[in-house]
Amino acid sequence: MAACPEPPLLCLPSNRLTSSRSRVIFHPKFKFMQIKFLDLKAQYDSIRSEIDAAIAETIASSSFILGPRVLSFEKNFAAYCDSAEAVALNSGTSALHLILRALGVGQGDEVITAANTFIATVASIVYTGARPVLVDIDPHTRNIDLDKLSAAISPHTKVIMPVHLYGRMVDMERLISLAIKHSLWVVEDACQAHGAKFRGKPVGSFGIAAAFSFYPGKNLGAYGEGGAVTTSDKELARRIRILRDHGSEKKYYHDMIGYNARMEGLQGAILDVKLRHLDKWNQERNRVASRYRVNLSSLPLGLPLESSEYYQVYHQFVIETDRRDELQKYLAEADIPTMIHYPVPVHKQRAFIETGIKTGALPVTEYLANRILSLPIYPELTDQQVDYISSRIREFFGQ
Ligand SMILES: Cc1ncc(COP(=O)(O)O)c(C=O)c1O
Repeated sequence: MAACPEPPLLCLPSNRLTSSRSRVIFHPKFKFMQIKFLDLKAQYDSIRSEIDAAIAETIASSSFILGPRVLSFEKNFAAYCDSAEAVALNSGTSALHLILRALGVGQGDEVITAANTFIATVASIVYTGARPVLVDIDPHTRNIDLDKLSAAISPHTKVIMPVHLYGRMVDMERLISLAIKHSLWVVEDACQAHGAKFRGKPVGSFGIAAAFSFYPGKNLGAYGEGGAVTTSDKELARRIRILRDHGSEKKYYHDMIGYNARMEGLQGAILDVKLRHLDKWNQERNRVASRYRVNLSSLPLGLPLESSEYYQVYHQFVIETDRRDELQKYLAEADIPTMIHYPVPVHKQRAFIETGIKTGALPVTEYLANRILSLPIYPELTDQQVDYISSRIREFFGQ
């Protein structure tokens, strides 16, 4: 085999050259480029010494549950989100659920959220006994359609839960003025939007509280499960701290039935290190997104909306085409992994059949579910890799 022009990471092992020809794409400019959907190992390699030291220190001090590194992360993450408090938890799902419980949301209440979201957003509402009310999404922003939101508000509505999907925030000025008009709480689902901004103001600082997930693949990801609530309401933060620890403020004294939703010490230590790199990583995601945008601009594809008021953090780079399945297969044959977020809208999942929402009731969500495709995007994805992926997409469309 001739010397590979790329660093080893980008080269397929030589046995791939002799494997099925249909799976190895020869291209004059980009030979044998290996693409991952996400490369968490590359990220770890770039900060290995800091992470290893934080892990070693946490183990040496036996701070396995909560502890000083989690406290430090809470302080730093609250400041990062321009909030008075952050409460570290075991998942984003717990963050959403515990905010609703701490607000007293329960049976007889309704919580409005977007129809295109990960199931956890809606499940967290169901856990409380409240009824989720799904609003269709805007075809351009792919977030909750603010023109349709008012019609979903009823005398039972307690909370509006906007989801900043794919790393793009909802227009929080419009949403909050609607909430104020109807005396409703706003709880941000910021699980895909760490570091995003709307008109210069950071995600997690808009509503009564916000929920973050630190699932490993998130823009800020733990090395296991993790989540957090940010809020500037000190009493709400106190209630969530009690709920995360079996309803207890003082060890073995329980004022209510709570949960085991505490963050592990190791995750706090890791996240505290990784938080220092988040802005740089988000800038790299923006580099990748801009390059895709330029490379793909002449194709018959829907691209993520860009506008100056939004700092997007591109948790996903989602394109749209009515030839989605064909394109996904074509890319898979070139060893380019893609994903669909999400292939089946929540209201069409078997788990939510009893909500009685009929097919066709949320037309934009349903339409997009058949057209969207998430391309690889992460800080370590090189320009050459983005060009390679783009060249395959252009090839698919005959350009
Ligand atoms: C929009 C959204 N909400 C909630 C969650 C739940 O977070 P977790 O997986 O940490 O429970 C996720 C995680 O993927 C998410 O993307």
